This record gives sequence, structure tokens and C-alpha cells, in this order.
Amino acid sequence: MIVIKKVADTSGSMADPQAAAWKSIKPTALTLIPTPIGNQPTPYTKTAWKDRKIGAVSAAELRVAHDGQTIFVRLNWDDITENREIEDAEIFPDAAGVLWPISSEAAINTMGAEHQGVNAWQWKANEESGRSVSAFGTGSSEPNGDSIDAQAQRTAKGWAVVIARKLVAEGDAEHSVKLAEGNRTRLGVAIWEGSNGERAGYKAFTENWIDVEIATA
Ligand code: HEM
Repeated sequence: MIVIKKVADTSGSMADPQAAAWKSIKPTALTLIPTPIGNQPTPYTKTAWKDRKIGAVSAAELRVAHDGQTIFVRLNWDDITENREIEDAEIFPDAAGVLWPISSEAAINTMGAEHQGVNAWQWKANEESGRSVSAFGTGSSEPNGDSIDAQAQRTAKGWAVVIARKLVAEGDAEHSVKLAEGNRTRLGVAIWEGSNGERAGYKAFTENWIDVEIATA
């Protein structure tokens, strides 16, 4: 269980991966595994990836905090290749995402299912802001209209990224995760390694949901 500490109103400054306030938040070490090829929805991509290694990034560090208004998810991981663009349809932008169940029954390894929605927030190295999608199973993700702030920094070894959203989001309850102080929920993490051609369903992810509590202090 990760207790998501409430920090003093930061006026959004924790959206910066280098903000001093991050020093007071304990990191959680994450192990990431390849997305299961059997759960990919497209036969063509399954064939294309049959003999390739999926999920080049196998470890990351997670920190989460909120200031009563906004929740900030900070990820850092090793990645010596800085991929910001699509090149020759072989290299894709590095990216990271956090997944939340909308329905408490939703499975992480299929991005949910019919009537069991999930909400993903994503940073992509070729985009200025983040994005938010809902999904009801692999192959079904669609933007849900929520605003996501995503900021990234190159570190000595790789990336540090903060993906942030208002606790109370604009989206409707079917497509957007509702977050509030005092609540417990769960989250998952995914990392796409652009130099390995990873995009969409091809990425590394945390195999199991991680329990979190949005603390009131
Ligand atoms: C737990 C972490 C996960 C997160 C944060 C996540 C996040 C996302 C996001 C943001 C997208 C849409 C944007 C894009 O295409 O880059 C997406 C698409 C996709 N994801 Fe996931 N995902 C996760 C796990 C999985 C797993 C385990 C699978 C299993 C194969 C999967 C399969 C797919 C597929 C096939 C797409 C592309 C088609 C579509 O748009 O639905 N995801 N994911």
C-alpha cells in the first residue's frame, strides 16, 4: 500500500520533476514485465512482434503526492536512448503512463473489459501536454477529455516524468477515474521504450495493481 501524502499547496510546482518537494516523498521500486502477446488485439502486430522482445524497460521508481487539488505521479527510469520522434516507423517516442481502475473489477493485464473501465494518463516525448484515455479492454482506448499535465526531464541516466491531474476531473464517472482525499484505489504503470519500437499495446507494465490511499494529511 502506498500512502499518497498530502503536501502543502504547491501551486502546481510538483508538476516539475525536479521540484524540491519531491525530496520528501519516498520512492517505490517497480518491476515491469512485457505486455502479454496473447492480450494484443491485432493479429498483424502479433505476427510482427512474434520473435521480438517486448518491454525493454524492466524497472522504474514511483513517487506520488497530492496537494488537495492536484495529484502528481512521478516516474523515473533508466533509458540511455532519448527518443522524441517517430523515425522510419521503427523508432517511437518514449512514453510513460499510469492506469487507474474506474470499475474496481477491471483487470490490469487487458486494460479493463466491457463494463469494467480503466483510465490511463500518458506522457509521450513528442507531445507538449499529457493525455487521458478510457479503455474497456485492449484496443478500445479513447480520449476522455480530461486535462493532464505532463512534464519530463532528461536525467543523467534516463527520464524523470511527472504526470498530473486534478483530483476532481471534468470527465463523466464512466470514463474518468474519480479521486478524493481519504479514498483508497489502485494504480498501475507502463513504460514504452521508443528505441525498441514500442507503442500502443507494446510496452512494459506492472503486472499487478498497486494499492494506494489518498491521505488527508
Ligand atoms: C498498466 C499499465 C498500462 C497503461 C498505463 C496503459 C496505457 C495505455 C494508453 C495511454 C494507451 C493509448 C495511447 C497509446 O496508444 O499509446 C494504450 C493503448 C493500448 N494498450 Fe495499454 N496500458 C497499460 C497496460 C496494457 C496491457 C497489459 C495491455 C495488453 C496487451 C495493453 C494493450 C494496449 C493496446 C493494444 C493499446 C492500443 C490500442 C488502443 O488504443 O486501445 N495495455 N495503453
